[in-house]
Amino acid sequence: MSQHAMKAAQSQDSVFSGFGKAFDPVFSITQETAADIPAREALLDHAMGPKRRRKSSEKLRRGRVPAEGLAFIARTADGALAGTVRLWDIRLGHGGAPALLLGPLAVAPDLKGAGIGSALMQHAVSEAAKMGHRAILLVGDAPYYARFGFSAAKTDRLAMPGPYEKDRFLALELVEGALDGAKGVIQPAGRKVSIAA
Ligand SMILES: CC(C)(COP(=O)(O)OP(=O)(O)OC[C@H]1O[C@@H](n2cnc3c(N)ncnc32)[C@H](O)[C@@H]1OP(=O)(O)O)[C@@H](O)C(=O)NCCC(=O)NCCS
Repeated sequence: MSQHAMKAAQSQDSVFSGFGKAFDPVFSITQETAADIPAREALLDHAMGPKRRRKSSEKLRRGRVPAEGLAFIARTADGALAGTVRLWDIRLGHGGAPALLLGPLAVAPDLKGAGIGSALMQHAVSEAAKMGHRAILLVGDAPYYARFGFSAAKTDRLAMPGPYEKDRFLALELVEGALDGAKGVIQPAGRKVSIAA
């Protein structure tokens, strides 16, 4: 078992009692399994629409599996899928240092504003750090992701492999200095989806 897989297996699921919002749902965060995929895809279509498949981030994810142990779902107390987040292995430029790309993050539209997105983000960042990853990049709304420590401060010499808005290209160092000197176009580095017979 790889170091990442071992640490993933040791990691605990999280249970949340809500954040004091009106309907205060109880939800839990666990590793995604194959059985969650249909509901996850339906949630993403519902939350983000069909354009989600045309994003530049998709070029780094297509045909790859998420980073080991870093695909999470949130579930309500009655078992319904409430949210999803996954992280992907990338390299910072050709032959560059390894890092992670986060996304998509999405919460079921009827459960927005209850803290599920924040809980997924905090869980994903903390698990990635525990596994020894050094930096996480994403393309998203800075006003949302700033609360988790993401900013565009260290992405100016990096680029996504396709169209994106520069001020939405954000990063978080899990190890101080991990992005110092990083430059070039982000490359996919995840394991390829195996086409099993
Ligand atoms: C973005 C998203 C994941 C947030 O999930 P959530 O569970 O509603 O978020 P939380 O309850 O943890 O946080 C809610 C807070 O984030 C703020 N927020 C939500 N989306 C925001 C955005 N795009 N920009 C800035 N702030 C945002 C809310 O105003 C709220 O602020 P408050 O705490 O001051 O009241 C969810 O709205 C979603 O699935 N959106 C559609 C898909 C999407 O856009 N994904 C992100 C791609 S960038």
